[in-house]
Amino acid sequence: MYTQSELKQQVAQAAVEYVLPFLTPDSILGVGTGSTVDLFIDALAIHKHAFKAAASSSERSTARLQSLGIAVQDLNTIERMDWYVDGADEIDAALNMTKGGGGALTREKIVASVSDKFLCIVDESKLVERLGAFPLPVEVIPMAKNAVARQLRALGGTPVERAGFVTDNGGLILDVSGLSIEDPAALEARINNMPGVVCCGLFAIAPASVALIAGQQGVRTLL
Ligand code: 5RP
Repeated sequence: MYTQSELKQQVAQAAVEYVLPFLTPDSILGVGTGSTVDLFIDALAIHKHAFKAAASSSERSTARLQSLGIAVQDLNTIERMDWYVDGADEIDAALNMTKGGGGALTREKIVASVSDKFLCIVDESKLVERLGAFPLPVEVIPMAKNAVARQLRALGGTPVERAGFVTDNGGLILDVSGLSIEDPAALEARINNMPGVVCCGLFAIAPASVALIAGQQGVRTLL
């Protein structure tokens, strides 16, 4: 039996092999955040001359990329990318995702929005029939924390402030359990519309394009 860490390692390696044929010396590659992406960055490092630079979704990933000699380019200087690679906390068969376990959801959504395609890399524990068992992260502006929490409670959720955590943008995270996520895209739009919400961890209005899922039988592709 492979452990979850071994599966993350396998899917990280598979992701490098997946994107490599698309990279040219002018390419910018979007890079997400998390323990799976850390392994992806490590495996990518020996191919750093195959592409120009990365667009990073967090201070954490930026530090790791740069420490391995991969250039990181300011997103404001990038018009588009072919691929954005990131993990997820949950993904369903339609490639809707819950993200933000690492608190980087806002920058992840921004960098993903500049990329034509989103490659989601997960171990099989993240593949679910329906999103919602993992508490939904919502980034909020600090002064709006209680106002947003009341609105999330009105939707049936139980928001809990992530203790001692401040995002790269100076925001707070409310982790919301108990939501019934029947229509992920509709719920994403509804939460994003609450004044004070910076970003909701549902990635359903723009789901992944492709998922690589590492399991005991190998890495499979979900399109
Ligand atoms: C960070 C994220 C991560 O992609 C998600 O939490 C999965 O992380 P990991 O690869 O460590 O399991 O959304 O904000």
